[in-house]
Amino acid sequence: MSFRPFRIDPDIRRARMPPVELYRDSDWWQALCERVFPRSWQLSPAARFQPRGNGLHPWTLLPGCLDEALLLARDENDRLRCLSNVCTHRGMPLVEKACAANSLRCPYHGRQFDLQGRLQASPEFEAAENFPSEEDDLPRAAVGEWQGFSFAALHPKLDFERWIETLNRPTAPWLNADWPSEPTETREYEVEANWALYMENALEGFHLPWVHRGLSKSIDFASYRTELFASGNIQVAEASQGEAAFDLPAKHPDAGKRIAGYFAFLFPNLMFNFYPWGLSINLIHPRGMGHCRVTYLTFVCKPELRGQGAGGDLDTVELEDGAAVAKVQRGIRSRLFQPGRYSPSREAGLHQFHRLLAEYLCGHEPMPRVIDT
Ligand code: FES
Ligand SMILES: [Fe+2]
Repeated sequence: MSFRPFRIDPDIRRARMPPVELYRDSDWWQALCERVFPRSWQLSPAARFQPRGNGLHPWTLLPGCLDEALLLARDENDRLRCLSNVCTHRGMPLVEKACAANSLRCPYHGRQFDLQGRLQASPEFEAAENFPSEEDDLPRAAVGEWQGFSFAALHPKLDFERWIETLNRPTAPWLNADWPSEPTETREYEVEANWALYMENALEGFHLPWVHRGLSKSIDFASYRTELFASGNIQVAEASQGEAAFDLPAKHPDAGKRIAGYFAFLFPNLMFNFYPWGLSINLIHPRGMGHCRVTYLTFVCKPELRGQGAGGDLDTVELEDGAAVAKVQRGIRSRLFQPGRYSPSREAGLHQFHRLLAEYLCGHEPMPRVIDT
């Protein structure tokens, strides 16, 4: 079946989930690769890697999905840019390893670019007419930076400030955190499931008592809530009695509550999960219709609290989630299955994810700015 536009009712009480083809049809996969991911913001895999003065860092954007060869380049004034890493002559990749340089020289026929991507020299082109033009410069992707983390987007649908506003939740306890410059730990998980099934699972706490018997002892299920923003949401989990919680200042909106974790989702495939000990960034990389790779980047600020509370054993929680969504991947092959309705009290984040997908894929009405649930 080929891709066909779909709509998600903005009222969760009436809405039905997207057609099952979203997870298993190659035309729908193609539509995602053309309409969603090129217009999305993505975290640089080097995370807080900050090449100083003339630093170059090659980066393949979303391998197995976009496979776009990019180059993060920081010039002598520390201005960050994201350039195409493909020569504008005949397509040779320019930089293969992170390095420092004042300019870029193509290894095929010697074309030279500056760190802004402008063509500086092109041997044997003296007689070419109307040359060079802007089209001979390296194309650029948009870049954004937040607390030392760098992001890029090929053709962003939203400007960076609007996209990142979820992480700028007023007086968020993480805004002045002193993150380590490199991840304390990096882990990768291969999940035999469509990326959207993985995201859906990450966007609701509904399954906690069923899938995570251990974790659910650390979290107060009744008070679990989701706050929606323009292009993402934050799930707020309060701690059970005696479990690790944030130490919040008196003026904080959640002061007086014992918060076990803030789980921030940035559309379409990124989680920033904040725990009393620090931050776990989860990158969900689509690798085809039935497979995704999940990378955990862990930044520990308070080692004495690691191992405690909701973020105490992320490895076990991830394996439980991966096993659950792999089973759903098998379930959605059923010819009799059609996606169902949303729980109005527990699936607001999931409903928002599907509305954003519909907006990117089909161009429906603009998303509301902020809704609290
Ligand atoms: S491909 Fe780069 S100079 Fe020819
Ligand atoms: Fe889970």
